[in-house]
Amino acid sequence: MTTNDLTGEVVASFDRSLEPRTKEVMSALVRHLHAFAREVELTEEEYFTAIDFLTRTGQISTGKRQEFVLLADVLGLSMLTVGLGNRKPPEATQSTVFGPFFVEGSPEVEIGGDIANGAPGQPCLVTGRVLDTKGEPIAEALVETWQADEEGFYDVQKDLDEPQNRGHLTTDAEGNYAFWSVKPVAYPIPDDGPVGELLRAGGRGAMRPAHIHFMVTAPGYARLITHVFAAGDDYLGNDAVFGVKDSLIADFTAHQAGTTASDGTTPDQPYYTVNYDLVLATTEETS
Ligand code: BEZ
Ligand code: FE
Repeated sequence: MTTNDLTGEVVASFDRSLEPRTKEVMSALVRHLHAFAREVELTEEEYFTAIDFLTRTGQISTGKRQEFVLLADVLGLSMLTVGLGNRKPPEATQSTVFGPFFVEGSPEVEIGGDIANGAPGQPCLVTGRVLDTKGEPIAEALVETWQADEEGFYDVQKDLDEPQNRGHLTTDAEGNYAFWSVKPVAYPIPDDGPVGELLRAGGRGAMRPAHIHFMVTAPGYARLITHVFAAGDDYLGNDAVFGVKDSLIADFTAHQAGTTASDGTTPDQPYYTVNYDLVLATTEETS
């Protein structure tokens, strides 16, 4: 068998796949994988280096440390899949990467409540409305949110007894949500494993621009997974996981201590506010 016959032979080996989709996906994977190896004229040494890299990627992965997801993120595969899976009207808020730091069962907060729970950072009031693509409010939408603190860490990266900077709330009749957290900062993705080695070998950085994560669900609407990024952040054009979209960038406005915020409170220390409406597409609009 010549090297040229090999690709067709492997593709044909999936002809009897139990599902048509298995055949479609595996034959495309084999064709592209073989074309890649031919294009770069992959050496045996490089092949064994890659096997070692993937082995170590698996070995460092746990329920809390998802190195394979991180690998997909830095290769842009996560964002590509987000784009392919979230075709929706232009009025709807765009989606971005989920990331590894969501935790099921976050604390419930009232509208206007505090999710920081003592996390280090400058207070930040986050407000907005959950709307449909016609601009009508969606009442009782579930808004789940999580973010890093001023030191660039999520609570799950620290040894804490209680959650910090994460919570969930439901919108009121006008679709409003509001909560206090801390001003997010840019932070590095975990880079002490094989993915970090890859970033350094590629001359790339590990930083993500400052952002707040949102997951919004409401009956009849497609689930929205997104971030709100801080305008002016140094890393907006250089996100390690390619998650930035211009429409997701918002102003975080600085306020002096002793000034009254939109929720009627008057913090005795400097604080920030950000307002961002989250627009959901219906399930019909996304199908
Ligand atoms: C995050 O934003 O939390 C994140 C996303 C992708 C990789 C690492 C972290
Ligand atoms: Fe994040």
